[in-house]
Amino acid sequence: MIGTGYVGLVSGACFADFGHQVTCVDKDADKIASLRRGEIPIFEPGLDALVASNVKAGRLDFATDLAVPVAEADAVFIAVGTPSRRGDGHADLSYVHTAAREIAAALEGFTVVVTKSTVPVGTGDEVERLIRETNPSADVEVASNPEFLREGAAIRDFKFPDRIVVGSSDERARKVLGDVYRPLSLNQAPLMFTARRTAELIKYAANAFLATKITFINEIADLAEKVGADVQEVARGIGLDNRIGSKFLHAGPGFGGSCFPKDTRALVKIALDHDVPLRIVEAVLAVNDNRKRAMARKVAGAVGASLRGKTIAVLGLTFKPNTDDMREAPAIAVVQALVDAGATIRAYDPQGMEAATNLLPPIDYADSAYDAAEGADCIVIVTEWNEFRSLDFKRLKKSMKTPALVDLRNIYKRAEIESQGFAYESIGRR
Ligand SMILES: NC(=O)c1ccc[n+]([C@@H]2O[C@H](COP(=O)([O-])OP(=O)(O)OC[C@H]3O[C@@H](n4cnc5c(N)ncnc54)[C@H](O)[C@@H]3O)[C@@H](O)[C@H]2O)c1
Repeated sequence: MIGTGYVGLVSGACFADFGHQVTCVDKDADKIASLRRGEIPIFEPGLDALVASNVKAGRLDFATDLAVPVAEADAVFIAVGTPSRRGDGHADLSYVHTAAREIAAALEGFTVVVTKSTVPVGTGDEVERLIRETNPSADVEVASNPEFLREGAAIRDFKFPDRIVVGSSDERARKVLGDVYRPLSLNQAPLMFTARRTAELIKYAANAFLATKITFINEIADLAEKVGADVQEVARGIGLDNRIGSKFLHAGPGFGGSCFPKDTRALVKIALDHDVPLRIVEAVLAVNDNRKRAMARKVAGAVGASLRGKTIAVLGLTFKPNTDDMREAPAIAVVQALVDAGATIRAYDPQGMEAATNLLPPIDYADSAYDAAEGADCIVIVTEWNEFRSLDFKRLKKSMKTPALVDLRNIYKRAEIESQGFAYESIGRR
């Protein structure tokens, strides 16, 4: 497994748990050293125990140099990052290309090189070209196997996937990947074989569709506020239709995270390169970008128009609960907009504060939700961690300057909060 980040570490640990022999490789020597000490560099529920048990069983180890593990491998997965390229929003493939060249030089015997990173259509062709250029005699097939796991539920998603997509037209490669995933197909997880380019497009199309669903309900939420409807009931009313489905219809402050923003941006660029503009996805991106900052206006409304001189307690910074991942979290834009408007921020997140310090303007960090709310004019829930779902409002009211709650995740009911003497704002519910 080349690249031991959120995807590489979870995939590597799960493959080892299936009984395979796995080496997770990463160039980041500190990361590998901490994994060897038994420390997990990311927060993902259940990952520490899974890694520990598979290391103990001798099926999982860690390395900074890929030469030996690649030479011994039947399958080499590329799980390095593909961030947005600075300046133009294309996927930055430099890590994938470097990994491909390094793998090429180490190959021995028949090997399937599998791109698990999310990559633009045609990247498999380029990976194959780079490998053949670097090592013309290599007996290699290049396949695509996009990953669909969600951070926060990554192990469950990996072990009980809705489907596994394998993009390769080569029988030997299909056999190796069929064997790698056999434990899952025994669990009835559909293993879908398709062409490499189709597999690459499936991943982007899936993420763009999910981002569209979120953005759609967010716009309906704005309309619901104006017309006096309740977006949660609208979502339930449409979601019960099997053709629509109830997932990803939760109105909120806009999507963020390490995948949807960068993948929708990259898909728009891929489409433009092929002269097929994807207008819907372009609109999704634009709407979502504006939305995050606009959340500050909601907070301003809750504290009486101006944020200048107000203290705002921000609860939840990560892009979703149960992760420490701050990449493109809506909280970044929300906090920045609040600071720009003159507010003082006291923030608390159960796992994300360390990563947040590099991404947010200078703000105060608190030890708990209650600590953050001390003396505040308003609480804003940005990320719906479980510990924010049953706050003690009597206690909060005593320590806050003015009791107000802006619930950007709709986790509370208006009547319940107003009965505690709080002003209450949420999304798409008047
Ligand atoms: N994070 C998710 O939830 C998720 C879900 C599905 C797909 N993906 C995709 O998977 C890919 C990886 O995402 P991530 O979130 O795990 O990234 P990450 O940034 O957490 O990890 C990438 C790792 O690769 C390492 N690396 C880079 N170049 C290397 C090289 N040549 N050799 C060895 N190691 C190298 C980096 O040091 C880093 O540790 C991306 O393409 C992403 O879009 C991510």
